[in-house]
Amino acid sequence: MDISVKTTSAPNQRSACLVVGIFDRRKLSKAAMELDSATDGYVAKILQQGDMDGKAGQVLLLQADESITAQRILLVGCGKEKELTLRQYKKAIASAVKALKEYNIRDAVLYLTDIPTKDLTPLQQIKLATEAIHRGYYQFKQLKSKNDKSNVTLQKAVLNVADERLLTKARMAVTMGKAVAEGVKTASDLGNLPGNICTPSYLASIAQKNAKRYSDMKVKVLKQKDIEELKMGAFLSVAKGSRQAPRLIVIEYNGGKKDDKPVALVGKGITFDSGGISIKPSASMDEMKFDMCGAASVLGTMVTIGELKLPINVVGIVPSCENMPDGAANKPGDIVTSMSGQTIEVLNTDAEGRLILCDALTYSQQYNPRAVIDIATLTGACVVALGKHPCGLLSNDQALTQDLLDAGQRSDDRAWQLPLWDEYQDQLKSNFADMANIGGPQAGTITAACFLSRFTEKLKWAHLDIAGVAWESGQKKGATGRPVPLLSQYLFDKCGKKYQLK
Ligand code: BES
Ligand code: MN
Ligand code: ZN
Repeated sequence: MDISVKTTSAPNQRSACLVVGIFDRRKLSKAAMELDSATDGYVAKILQQGDMDGKAGQVLLLQADESITAQRILLVGCGKEKELTLRQYKKAIASAVKALKEYNIRDAVLYLTDIPTKDLTPLQQIKLATEAIHRGYYQFKQLKSKNDKSNVTLQKAVLNVADERLLTKARMAVTMGKAVAEGVKTASDLGNLPGNICTPSYLASIAQKNAKRYSDMKVKVLKQKDIEELKMGAFLSVAKGSRQAPRLIVIEYNGGKKDDKPVALVGKGITFDSGGISIKPSASMDEMKFDMCGAASVLGTMVTIGELKLPINVVGIVPSCENMPDGAANKPGDIVTSMSGQTIEVLNTDAEGRLILCDALTYSQQYNPRAVIDIATLTGACVVALGKHPCGLLSNDQALTQDLLDAGQRSDDRAWQLPLWDEYQDQLKSNFADMANIGGPQAGTITAACFLSRFTEKLKWAHLDIAGVAWESGQKKGATGRPVPLLSQYLFDKCGKKYQLK
């Protein structure tokens, strides 16, 4: 799909479809007004008939006559003009894309990116539109044996830019949006693949394949023996119940200066979480193939970084294995020794994510990172607390927290902070080891983070619990590719002026 930017006037654009905004109630945007005058009041007449009043999300497709050069006009409701926020803007773009898809339109010019929106710069609008268009046409069909030709895809989209002087920067916004979309696609594809295909060694092979495409990117894959040598007793204890061998995948990207400290991204890569001996109920257990979405977001973000050749150093660390019940598996009450030397009583084998992450976090210290961010589908409790809109964010550093919250806002991939207070640490007491791997029924997301905090005391660290946002359930079941937009935005913000869409 080709997305470009232009400064044009709607009436003399040659296109299969011009997409223009209508505000609540029946107020024409600038482009709609221009089309209205060129068509002798056709647009206003349709609105007066009551076919559409401009509520956010409404759409109406009109056939154009000879008075303009385009074939169709798609009216898109944008809600109240004075209240046009990021939320409404995204809704308008999403409904436009949905309509273009349903009507099998091959090329379009969008006059939505040029409508002033509160809390967004015109360039951010362009970046977000680019991401949304790519996402709207995302499909995961690789495991269907028949290829159905249900929809044609948009070949070409032109985003209108109101101010010609912004065109150069607008091209950069498209480039960034496209790179984020690539990362989101990578993460989604990995998430959607089933556990019998997307195994730890498969994840490693994709990391290696991706790294070959980008300069400055190298991958190390550590196998069982290497992991044993590192004394990652917590990670290995989870892997032990599975026929699939574990992998520790390390992706080093050095686009920055040689001595710049890297940002470390640590992703949970459980390719299937049955719960182990503390086995999960069977309803929706298939969705535990998504338990590697933290890992997928790391691989995806690396693709975004590689595409843009970001001037920054980043290391991705992915511990990956399955959590299965077996004669050799962890048993409740087993005590394991982590790479840090701290001992852990495994009271519930289903709290496995923190066991693999704690060793990966210890491993990250050797990179002397400026910040470590772990990303994990860690607790069902996070879905109960926050639902599917923001991910949970817990951290031992408030500046890092603020950076991530801001990045989430601007990329529309939001996080919400939960407290990481010392008081909660008591819930992890064990009678037999340094700590237990569960903290009881209260505040499950926080006690999981408390557990991890014991392995990150020397680090500036933040934890993203993505259990609620990494995939959708029900009819639209599938990976979302989140939080690649958030992580990418966080990294853009560290890369200087060229990447600030202002
Ligand atoms: N991968 C799950 C968390 C999860 C569950 C995410 C459901 C999304 C939906 C994690 O490994 C897990 O099983 N966590 C347990 C922790 C508990 C045993 C303390 C949970 O949330 O139930
Ligand atoms: Mn589990
Ligand atoms: Zn899990």
